[in-house]
Amino acid sequence: MKTIYNFSAGPAVLPKSVLEKAQSELVNYENSGMSVMELSHRSSLFDKIIQDAEALLRELMTIPDNYKVLFLQGGASLQFTMVPLNLAQHKKALYVNTGSWSKKAISEAQKLDSVTVEVIASSEDQNFTYIPEIHKEDIPQDAAYVHITTNNTIEGTTIYDLPDTGDVPLVADMSSNILSVNYNVADFGLIYAGAQKNIGPAGLTVVIVREDLIGQSDILSAMLDYEIQAKNGSMYNTPPTFSIYMAKLVFEWIKEQGGVSQMEKQNKAKAALLYDEIDTSQLFSSPVNKKDRSINNIPFVTGDDALDKKFNQEALAAGFENLKGHRSVGGMRASLYNAFPEAGVEALVALMKTFEAENKGAK
Ligand SMILES: Cc1ncc(COP(=O)(O)O)c(C=O)c1O
Repeated sequence: MKTIYNFSAGPAVLPKSVLEKAQSELVNYENSGMSVMELSHRSSLFDKIIQDAEALLRELMTIPDNYKVLFLQGGASLQFTMVPLNLAQHKKALYVNTGSWSKKAISEAQKLDSVTVEVIASSEDQNFTYIPEIHKEDIPQDAAYVHITTNNTIEGTTIYDLPDTGDVPLVADMSSNILSVNYNVADFGLIYAGAQKNIGPAGLTVVIVREDLIGQSDILSAMLDYEIQAKNGSMYNTPPTFSIYMAKLVFEWIKEQGGVSQMEKQNKAKAALLYDEIDTSQLFSSPVNKKDRSINNIPFVTGDDALDKKFNQEALAAGFENLKGHRSVGGMRASLYNAFPEAGVEALVALMKTFEAENKGAK
């Protein structure tokens, strides 16, 4: 098998040892004669998998007892609707607009007649290259929640200082930095994340929600109701069993590595290698405000479309997969999630240095 480095923003690189473990158990899980994919979700074998997955996630994130952990489907995108539907009917929902995913969250909430949506801060004026200030005075204390996107996957920014929202619960789309940096769950009313970056394969969405925030609304669809999902242990219908199993293996792997703090340390070190190169380079630069730069998704450009294209072609030929920037930003984007190896960042930096030497004066 050839060695490649997968810089994908998601679905993203998974730990090789996790893939190998899944491979070794694929056709005969714990001597059952069945694959995890073939197990009934009501079986004791699967029940142990989902219980272990929840217990491990609770341990890794130190989730307090008064929070429910839900394993749902529909991606983070379905949470754009489920959050306002469950938490904000006949109330005001406040949003911070920091990128393409925040915008989608806002636009989905706006489709609900029963919810009043207000955007309290935005960085759209400068193409989402910075994190706007969020002022407590702009947060009416009767609002249902303030929604933030902790890490903006496409634009490469992160909210490092959580806003002071007073008594209004903070809701976070943590899709691209959950388990990659340490957060205090008690600072949030609700956290959600699509699995396909730091948790496992696509098809699973994790929701962590404070108990008192659910069960307040009449919701037409059982599948969209956190209370029903919680009462049924995320098994109101058939859950994404294989994705939950894979998530459990990833949680075990994170624990073995030393937990989320260790992940954060490694992720910071990986990001520093790339940012050092970007900052010293005469050719490559970052479009993002320095203090708001993400350690998980790092966009960079040469400032010349033809050179960006050439670099992307050479990178691909050298085994650097999925490095091309998002179509809305252009250039390059390196997504450095938990399972991305430091050696891959070193190899990328070496390629950037060679490319710069060979293309001096081409701009
Ligand atoms: C921050 C953020 N929110 C939401 C989404 C959408 O996730 P999904 O594809 O699981 O609906 C993504 C996907 O990349 C994301 O990065």
